[in-house]
Amino acid sequence: MDINIRAGLYLDLLKRSLTNTIFESEPDIDDDEFRFTMDFATHYVNSDAVSMLPLARLDNIRNCIESILRDGIPGDLIETGVWRGGAAIFMRGVLKAYNASDRLVWVADSFEGLPAPDPDLFPLEAKVQSGPVMQKAYHNFAVGLEEVKRNFAAFGLLDDQVKFLKGWFKDTLPAAPIGTLSLMRLDGDFYESTRDGLNSLYDRLSVGGYVIIDDYGEDSWTYCRKAVDEFRLERQIDDPLIVVDSRCSYWQRAR
Ligand SMILES: C[S@@+](CC[C@H](N)C(=O)[O-])C[C@H]1O[C@@H](n2cnc3c(N)ncnc32)[C@H](O)[C@@H]1O
Repeated sequence: MDINIRAGLYLDLLKRSLTNTIFESEPDIDDDEFRFTMDFATHYVNSDAVSMLPLARLDNIRNCIESILRDGIPGDLIETGVWRGGAAIFMRGVLKAYNASDRLVWVADSFEGLPAPDPDLFPLEAKVQSGPVMQKAYHNFAVGLEEVKRNFAAFGLLDDQVKFLKGWFKDTLPAAPIGTLSLMRLDGDFYESTRDGLNSLYDRLSVGGYVIIDDYGEDSWTYCRKAVDEFRLERQIDDPLIVVDSRCSYWQRAR
């Protein structure tokens, strides 16, 4: 069987296993906020789901990596903000499906959940982060490093192509021993988490590589969009932002 067909079959099953969508359908991100919040807790947080990403975002990861491999864009892959590890596990799965053994997957997280945003600078984020939904229903998105490693191992994808960066992004990313990147996927939700990723990683991204901003459209509880818009303005980046879904966008670096 053709490698692309075999890869496609494996990746489709992997995507559905990671997102608890083998037997269940995923929550509708465009549903009203209350209903989505409830469905999100049931479907992802209180289940064996390993990623909280909608399927369209896993397709986006796959498409970006396939384009990188096809066009020979140099560099490793990183996700900043991994929760139970699912999207990063999927990245390693895509590399494996295409026998790409010369690239690493960097897995960056505090492994103790979201930081507490400064309430004076980021009032909306501070309110949500300290509120009952985030603390009680979502457990502040805190998942320990050992659990994330177990999840990689459960899918047969924990090996020396996977590197972990434990700690707050502001501390780990600036001096991280990463060379060149071809894909940076920022999923740290908040303004500072997003800026820390952009500030530390963008200069390592190859031309032709991709930046995915998971939370670009999460305007009801984060300032992620502002972080990205300010960075793009400061750096005079005019590569088009492409919509993955109503809350996630990405761009391809052209220069
Ligand atoms: C929404 S979750 C990530 C979801 C994940 N990508 C998936 O596939 O399900 C956000 C993650 O970002 C991490 N995080 C956010 N800001 C951070 C920071 N400044 N430093 C380290 N980790 C951070 C949290 O610990 C949490 O695991």
